[in-house]
Amino acid sequence: MYINLGLIGNPLSHTFSPFIHNYFLYKSGICGGYTCYDINIQELEETISFLQKFNFTGINVTVPYKQEVIPFCSEVDITAKSVGAVNTLHFTDNGIVGHNTDIFGFHMMLETSGINTLNKKVLLLGAGGASRSVIPYLVMYKPDYFLIANRTTEKAYELSLLYDNNADVCSLNDLYGLEFDIVINATSIGVKEEPYTDYGFKINEAAIDMIYKPQITSFLSLYCKDNIKLINGLPMLIYQAAGSFNIWTGCNIIPDMEYFKNALYK
Ligand code: ATR
Repeated sequence: MYINLGLIGNPLSHTFSPFIHNYFLYKSGICGGYTCYDINIQELEETISFLQKFNFTGINVTVPYKQEVIPFCSEVDITAKSVGAVNTLHFTDNGIVGHNTDIFGFHMMLETSGINTLNKKVLLLGAGGASRSVIPYLVMYKPDYFLIANRTTEKAYELSLLYDNNADVCSLNDLYGLEFDIVINATSIGVKEEPYTDYGFKINEAAIDMIYKPQITSFLSLYCKDNIKLINGLPMLIYQAAGSFNIWTGCNIIPDMEYFKNALYK
């Protein structure tokens, strides 16, 4: 049997997902392929229905469609529903089921990096689909203080409501002079050509970027000289991919991070 998997989003020129999933297919002895569909919003519905008709097993969903795909799902699992974002579609006999494996990916990224947000001062940059996957971890490992900063403050406020204690909210331009233990960049600044702007805050323990390319991202490069941990989004990407692959195939892959680092940052 041959299974078809894929990815929808925009832009996709930077993606490592085909490499990761083709490796998972090889490792699990499953015959299949993973295809990228770089689409605009007008093509979203038609693409999903096309892939479903052509017997795809499932697809990943990335920037900027993690919220937009929800209306096309006949069912959304409880975790994805709790954050209002879907990064994995599973085409089943009973319709399209939406899942969120970014939540697992973020959790594993922190766990494998030896970082914990419990009782820390935490800043989250961004309030889009990717930011939503951070919230369940923070609910579990409650920071002492949690601030969400976003270009559009209304979206940051909306996101803060998903957090038990309702986080504080501000604009990116209000961060100058503030100090945090851990800062998570979940904006898409840097995915496209424009570099990340220095908003003038200080980080004491760890800078975490959900972006994984280049290895030292535009955001992380600002903190290279500081004595803090720098973590790019590769562990999150690999673990969310393992989560999606498990949903589609039932195979439980334990990713070898060193292998992926060596292969993808040659
Ligand atoms: P994703 O699925 O990766 O979260 P998204 O839902 O499109 O993608 O969210 C992108 C995030 O990056 C948002 O927080 C967005 O800010 P807005 O809510 O104000 O749109 C943020 N973002 C994108 N480009 C940005 C830029 N040039 N400056 C500041 N923030 C930016």
